[in-house]
Amino acid sequence: MVPRSLTALAVFALFAPTTSLAATLSCNGGPAPAFPFKVADGWSATPILGNLSRPRSVVVDTKGNLLVLERGKGITGHKIDDNGCVKESKVVVDDPNLNHGLDAHPDGKTLVASTPDIAYEFQYDPDKLEAGARKQLVIGMQGPGHNTRTVLIPRKNTDYLVVSVGSGENIDEGAFQTSSGRAQIRSFNTKTLSVDGSAFSDDNAGKIMAFGMRNAVGLAEDREGNIHAIDNSVDDAYRVSIVTNTVIDIHDDNPAEKVYILGQPNAPNGSFFAGAPYCYTVFDPTPITDVTLQPGDYFALQPNSTFNDGWCASNAARPELILAPHVAPLDIKFGVKKDDDNLYVSLHGSYNTDEPIGYKVMIVSGKYDGGKWTPSAGIQTPSTDLLANQDESNCDEGCFRPVGLAFDKDGEHLFVASDTSGEVFVVKKGNGAFSSFKHHPPAIAVALVLPAFLYALSGLL
Ligand SMILES: *[C@@H]1O[C@H](CO)[C@@H](O)[C@H](O)[C@H]1NC(C)=O
Ligand SMILES: *[C@@H]1O[C@H](CO)[C@@H](O)[C@H](O)[C@H]1NC(C)=O
Ligand SMILES: *[C@@H]1O[C@H](CO)[C@@H](O)[C@H](O)[C@H]1NC(C)=O
Repeated sequence: MVPRSLTALAVFALFAPTTSLAATLSCNGGPAPAFPFKVADGWSATPILGNLSRPRSVVVDTKGNLLVLERGKGITGHKIDDNGCVKESKVVVDDPNLNHGLDAHPDGKTLVASTPDIAYEFQYDPDKLEAGARKQLVIGMQGPGHNTRTVLIPRKNTDYLVVSVGSGENIDEGAFQTSSGRAQIRSFNTKTLSVDGSAFSDDNAGKIMAFGMRNAVGLAEDREGNIHAIDNSVDDAYRVSIVTNTVIDIHDDNPAEKVYILGQPNAPNGSFFAGAPYCYTVFDPTPITDVTLQPGDYFALQPNSTFNDGWCASNAARPELILAPHVAPLDIKFGVKKDDDNLYVSLHGSYNTDEPIGYKVMIVSGKYDGGKWTPSAGIQTPSTDLLANQDESNCDEGCFRPVGLAFDKDGEHLFVASDTSGEVFVVKKGNGAFSSFKHHPPAIAVALVLPAFLYALSGLL
């Protein structure tokens, strides 16, 4: 007979990641993980909330409460203890139309949250976890296609609100006109908005920070006040060869997802062009055989006399960082701790490739140079996995899918929302960092698998 402890060891070994020991810790009374996960060496992680309604953006308010935008429900507030565990939860805003964007003003008195059409400001009391009257800040964002409207209140420019609206379809030619109000990021001085809100595409209210930005769901402000955006690039990419005039399918290896530095929100660069719908960024040049390009260069899908590789090279802004195609980055956050110059990136993942890819939170090392954050080794700086599913190749069967990221004030705890599994994780440095150290048997919540699968199938970000 096998001793009990050995059986337990064998079970654990079965699920142990190859790269690191899963520091799968727990909060007292916290949920078991919906899917087996692994965390980088020297870090620990545990779900702190489960069964939420598709949690998207997360933010920590001025009193250290965690706020979660739950799609189809509203905003929930959670009192957090010193370990990053939840003490108490409450519904702050009951509004099923809120679907993605959320930020908390550093004055501690207001929140901003978005539906596909409107960015609202809510009066807010962080001590009571209660919201009061709301007003419209930015309106007129409803459109076809991508429906998240990410909102960011810059900490160094607190009178401003940065809002991102994606394209109306995969290749949205109409969005090349900035008056369309699609595929662009704008910065609004909230002190000068109309009483009932200003239209997103009103150039007097919203100054363009970038256009041709196909779907920048993730926005972040670095320590120096610069806004960075992470863009989701085109599906089903192809190249019409300028040599043979034949169509080559290049979508498995191209184009890159990409991060751009947009500058300060109070001095937006109205001519910052991120390429869409005409120019996309090379990740792997191998399948593009008619010309010689490098990773990070632009290419046109179907070059002609107007829009071609040369036009793209001279008109589109170079990304600061490129990521593998289809990983679907939905948020970025900069490290908060004094010595933490990393960029944290959440990838929602996709299996619109030969193998599922993404479905994790990763770290890109960087440095502050000339008043701005830059990746430590240039445009191809490699990433390391921070929080990942145990077996990414199985993600077509169901996985957690990271969306929003938020650090607490000291940068000790990183909160990670996963919409498909209805979870929020806390991730922190150190092994055994939680009060009640416990290995969770990786419990697959069968009930979560089917909805997760169907949701993934819908292909929506
Ligand atoms: C989710 O809710 C179900 C039914 O109420 C419950 O059985 C399950 O334990 C909950 N899971 C989590 C992770 O809280
Ligand atoms: C604005 O962005 C473009 C990239 O599209 C860049 O070439 C230009 O130098 C920027 N202008 C300023 C003033 O930063
Ligand atoms: C060039 O290609 C673009 C995008 O495919 C298209 O909209 C435009 O009409 C084309 N122009 C010419 C001159 O063929």
